[in-house]
Amino acid sequence: MRRVVFFSALLVAGISSIEAQPVPSLAAVYQPYFPIGAAVEPQTLQTHGDLLAAQVNSLVAENAMKWDHIHPRRGNDSSAYNFSGADAIVAFAQEHGMRVRGHTLIWHQQGPPMVFRGAGGQATRAEVLERMRDHITTLLTRYRGKVYAWDVVNEALADAGAWRTDSPWFQTAGADEDGDGIPDSSVKAFEYARSADPTAKLFYNDYGIEAGDKLERAYNLVKALKQKGLVDGVGIQGHWSIYTPDAGTVRAAIERFASLGVEVQITELDLSVYRWGDTSSLPELRPDLASRQAARYAALFEVFRKEAGKLTGVTFWGVADDETWLDSFPVAGRKDWPLLFGTDHQPKGAFWAVARW
Ligand code: G3I
Repeated sequence: MRRVVFFSALLVAGISSIEAQPVPSLAAVYQPYFPIGAAVEPQTLQTHGDLLAAQVNSLVAENAMKWDHIHPRRGNDSSAYNFSGADAIVAFAQEHGMRVRGHTLIWHQQGPPMVFRGAGGQATRAEVLERMRDHITTLLTRYRGKVYAWDVVNEALADAGAWRTDSPWFQTAGADEDGDGIPDSSVKAFEYARSADPTAKLFYNDYGIEAGDKLERAYNLVKALKQKGLVDGVGIQGHWSIYTPDAGTVRAAIERFASLGVEVQITELDLSVYRWGDTSSLPELRPDLASRQAARYAALFEVFRKEAGKLTGVTFWGVADDETWLDSFPVAGRKDWPLLFGTDHQPKGAFWAVARW
């Protein structure tokens, strides 16, 4: 930790001697701990291919495996699917000896409305579950042995309250007919995934589950799924900021989930330089914020290394600041700088804080 402070102090002082050093591979540095991943679009393989090949040993599709991308047409024959983007990502990963996480099978977003439509208006529960089973079976069969882990259900929990009732999955197939306390739409997704590829690790993935009431609800959900033998891991997304949460909070969450006997991964890590709710815009990444970002990344990765036995992967939601979803969220067109590499693909202070400690 003292070395981290030292590096941060150097960065604050504007000393660039660290940046002049050869850039180490984060994947190699973290080899003794856990894989380092990045979310990519198919085009990122061209625009950021060298950086990815040098820095990460795990990939996840930012959008290409979501229902509306990979399964854009009605039905379940091959003409209903478009595997091109997902296949390109898997091929790149195989070529570079990287593993692949699958993201995501069942989510309230990016499911085409036709999935939930039937002859009489809304599709029946039986129709929706059949489409779900077909979709999951097709994907897990195609990528068996190539995708080692799947985010089977993404964000089923509401921020406040119990379940996300605005999800079309919940609305059409969420009724808890088996009385296990979990919407059947979620349980069925795990059952279909388990039987389609018993070798894949099945994850529940969500944001905001590192603290508070949502942590408790996620804990109970994963516990119930684990008792049924349906879940192997929990993904804490990690869309955080340079202000919150603190590393101790994240550590406690990792330990709490791990106490259930499941793997824990940080699946979508990025640290916005804006406070939650702040809608102002910065013209550039101010040095004081870059320094704060480096210090927070350092503290988080210190926890991640300590928890390496329980943490089986850390995936960034992007690779460099020129391509980040945060440029369109929560303020469309506002620049953010949440990752370890800058818009010029060069390592930021945050990179050095994570790579050297
Ligand atoms: O593919 C279409 C393209 O054809 C069209 O021309 C263009 C016009 O807007 O939109 C394209 O789709 C966009 C898609 O990203 C692919 O680029 C969608 O509008 C846009 O909404 C979508 O955003 C993605 C978002 O999920 C969807 O809600 C983000 O890139 C992606 O980073 C984000 O990722 C999610 C995780 O899956 C789950 N956790 C939260 C995370 C951030 O929201």
